[in-house]
Amino acid sequence: MRDESTERDAGGDCEGEIPLVGTEVPGPRARAWVERLAASECPALTARRKRRSELTGTDHDPIVWTSAQGAIVRDVDDNRYIDLTAGFGVAMLGHSHPSVLSAIERQSRRLVHALGDVFPSDRKVELEERLSAIAPWPNAKVILGLSGADGVEAALKSAVLASKRAGVIAFEGGYHGLAHGPLAACGYSARFREPFAAQLNPDVTFVPYPAMGAVDACAKAREGVVRALERGTVGALLLEPVLGRGGVTVGDGDAISEIVRIARRAGVVVIADEIYTGCFRCADAFCASSVLWSEPADVVVLGKALGGGLPVSACLLRDEVARAWGDPGGEAIHTSTFLGNPLSCAAALAVLDELSREGVRGQIRRQSELFWSDVIAPLRDDPRCRTTGAGGVGLLVGLGLEGGLARVLAVMRALLERGYIVLPGGARGDQLAFTPPAVLTEAQRAHARETLRAVLRA
Ligand SMILES: Cc1ncc(COP(=O)(O)O)c(C=O)c1O
Repeated sequence: MRDESTERDAGGDCEGEIPLVGTEVPGPRARAWVERLAASECPALTARRKRRSELTGTDHDPIVWTSAQGAIVRDVDDNRYIDLTAGFGVAMLGHSHPSVLSAIERQSRRLVHALGDVFPSDRKVELEERLSAIAPWPNAKVILGLSGADGVEAALKSAVLASKRAGVIAFEGGYHGLAHGPLAACGYSARFREPFAAQLNPDVTFVPYPAMGAVDACAKAREGVVRALERGTVGALLLEPVLGRGGVTVGDGDAISEIVRIARRAGVVVIADEIYTGCFRCADAFCASSVLWSEPADVVVLGKALGGGLPVSACLLRDEVARAWGDPGGEAIHTSTFLGNPLSCAAALAVLDELSREGVRGQIRRQSELFWSDVIAPLRDDPRCRTTGAGGVGLLVGLGLEGGLARVLAVMRALLERGYIVLPGGARGDQLAFTPPAVLTEAQRAHARETLRAVLRA
């Protein structure tokens, strides 16, 4: 039903800002699209929805998006939602940010495709210069990619060249994408690795994630790293400053700094996967080096928010690590057809322009504070909401729920029916994960809090 009362309740001047759901969810048009999807899409995704439906007793067919602006997403049934995921963290500045759109539009009239590593576009050169300038070391070098997994793959390749060792230390709960390089280091779920195990790097050691204040896990992580290094085959240490998909968990700055020092003394290349946490989602350009750890990494990977919605990632390399690529001689040994796509580069430049403005950074910081104080804290502190606590940094927030995955999925569904897009978080799926865009209005935060409260108390 169209929920006009809630729109009125949230104030008369916010028409268009808050959800409006006028059909069942998914609506009839979405159902027709999903039927077509099921006929052409790999069945793994349809099977997952079926499993979720069996677990919760409710439908888990998706809605089908048609347009989005700011925090608002519209679907094929003309329903209006608030996207508290910012499209997997991509729309940090809001969906369809005007500066990103005009950069894409301008670029689309000039050049939409160039010749990657052979004949680059001017936009690619500009983007690499900009990224090199913001990297946490002087004279940094850049390898662009199209997805986060591409960026991590480039980081792992750089590490093997620089260290001459193929072994990797990764962390339980860590998620780095599903191309073969990052998949081998996927501590989020063994189930993701198992079907492809024969194709993956066999020399990966998983150690517990050193979560902030988790003394035992920090000690075990340190021991695990020391033991793995004894083998003499480890060339890369790959970690997220804050676990994202693995259940929003903030890393312990002191423990990680120590691990980084130990690894570096053993000649290991330290890779910070900032695909989720970077681009100011977690309070700064790079969450690891400027917010959490005293030891900067040797390689930092950005993705998601970097392109403002267009696919682009960046592997930033300390100069010494980059030099290990040496002179490739004949053909480039790491490239792709769409490397440095001009449209993606133009969009990323627009995002970096926005993020360089103090006003925008202030808005992001303020949004983080208000999202915690107006939405998360009241829910966490309400015993009737049956939460198990909240954690995160900046605009990367997890709210644990009693009742585990089944309740999280049911809550997610109930929220969708009331016009809120939220995802489950954590390997056990016992969190609601929030990565909202930095553009939520006061009315949207208030409406989100009241809706979440009503659903969680039910
Ligand atoms: C920390 C982290 N690294 C890597 C990835 C993979 O990025 P992509 O899905 O763009 O390949 C993700 C995606 O969620 C991520 O959260």
